[in-house]
Amino acid sequence: MKPDTLKILYSSLLKIFNSYIYEFNTYFKEYLNEFDLINDLEKLNQAGILNSKSLGILNSKSTVVPNSQLINVTNSKSSLILNSQSTNILNSKFTPTLNSKSLKQLLKNSVITAPLAGISDNTFRIFAKAFGSYLNFTEMISSYGVYYNNKETLKLSFISDFERPCGIQIFGFQPEILAEAAKILEESADLIDINMGCPVPKVLKAKSGGYLLTDENQIEKILKKVKNTINKPLSIKIRLGWDYNNINALKVCQIAQDCGVGLVTIHGRTVKQGFSGDVNYEKIKEVKSKVKIPVIISGDIDSPQKALNVLNYTECDGVMIGRAARGRLWIFHDILFFINLFLKSLKDNLNLGLELDSNLGFNLSSFKSFKSFNFEPSLDFKKEFAVLYLKFLVFFLGEEKAVKEFRKHFAWIFKWIKNASKLRQEFNTIAKLSDAVEVIESINSG
Ligand SMILES: Cc1cc2nc3c(=O)[nH]c(=O)nc-3n(C[C@H](O)[C@H](O)[C@H](O)COP(=O)(O)O)c2cc1C
Repeated sequence: MKPDTLKILYSSLLKIFNSYIYEFNTYFKEYLNEFDLINDLEKLNQAGILNSKSLGILNSKSTVVPNSQLINVTNSKSSLILNSQSTNILNSKFTPTLNSKSLKQLLKNSVITAPLAGISDNTFRIFAKAFGSYLNFTEMISSYGVYYNNKETLKLSFISDFERPCGIQIFGFQPEILAEAAKILEESADLIDINMGCPVPKVLKAKSGGYLLTDENQIEKILKKVKNTINKPLSIKIRLGWDYNNINALKVCQIAQDCGVGLVTIHGRTVKQGFSGDVNYEKIKEVKSKVKIPVIISGDIDSPQKALNVLNYTECDGVMIGRAARGRLWIFHDILFFINLFLKSLKDNLNLGLELDSNLGFNLSSFKSFKSFNFEPSLDFKKEFAVLYLKFLVFFLGEEKAVKEFRKHFAWIFKWIKNASKLRQEFNTIAKLSDAVEVIESINSG
């Protein structure tokens, strides 16, 4: 690895981040001008839209707004300025040592990158972090592979300074193996996470991932052993239960809490559901109300509107974004921006039309979105983004592998453009970076 090359790439990332902010803010100013900024907090209150948590945040002076962007918007009736710390955060190397206290602090209304096998690699995580994600995770890594020193497995655990804080997720069944693997990996990880939700048949057959939800005793043994072996914080990622007849997320969270786990992420589906069917936010809300450890929600959160609604409804500590970030890592910025804006609007009595749906979970079709905020960056931005993403991939994987790996990202980034399928086919035949860049740069809106 040549660290200087990574630094240079990273400074290009900061540049494209700034051009994103410029485009976003331009759109946002126009959007905001459509509103009458009247004092409407009373109405929100009467409608029962404010929950105890948002009120609590309002009342506390210490609102944490870590990655807010500078926006300075004025219209005839009001002016709104969000403080910016983004430049500081982006320019500083953020390598905190997490402990249970700092972890809790980090997780206030946080937006977190989901572990995604085959997707959330170094490049994905660096981009996620740059656009505002509080916490990254590696994809799941076999504890057996780590224990037996498998080179390919160990490669997955590499974390660069530009993507921290980053947890390493492991999977397995045997407490001793998981603990040994965690011990080996904790040196480079900021957090160790154990996968207890993966529904892939191969993983279930090895009594790992989602299978563990059928064996609470084993979960307890694993958590005790791993917790006693490592010094870094421990987290788990679970689902609601094995199936709807066996919902045990609350029980598992209580076990985790008793074992000293610092964070639980719940994907609001059962293992049997795989990745389809509704996400049940109501059940997550129930778990959150009964445990003390921070709870992060995962599942189908694909817009700032939805993130705000889900956070408000469940009163969870943060949202995890997975599939919605593929090819559009700027979603981390947009979600954070609206969380911060919402908190700010509550604090300063501004009506920005950010209405939340207090019935979420009972009637999923009734999402009220705040006035059709549909920002999409320009094609020029996407082209710059794509070229840079590819260059990062080349840095980490080498040219041949990177260009192949980029095919799926190409499809995600340019999903909505005309001739998308023809371009994808063309791109799939390419092996060299220079040819790939040429294809990307030749894309036009026509
Ligand atoms: C392609 C893919 C790979 C995934 N890999 C992992 C993984 O390695 N570890 C894990 O805990 N969850 C994994 N998940 C689950 C996601 O982290 C997330 O919980 C789930 O996709 C729901 O969130 P989303 O709707 O935001 O994608 C994966 C999901 C997908 C679609």
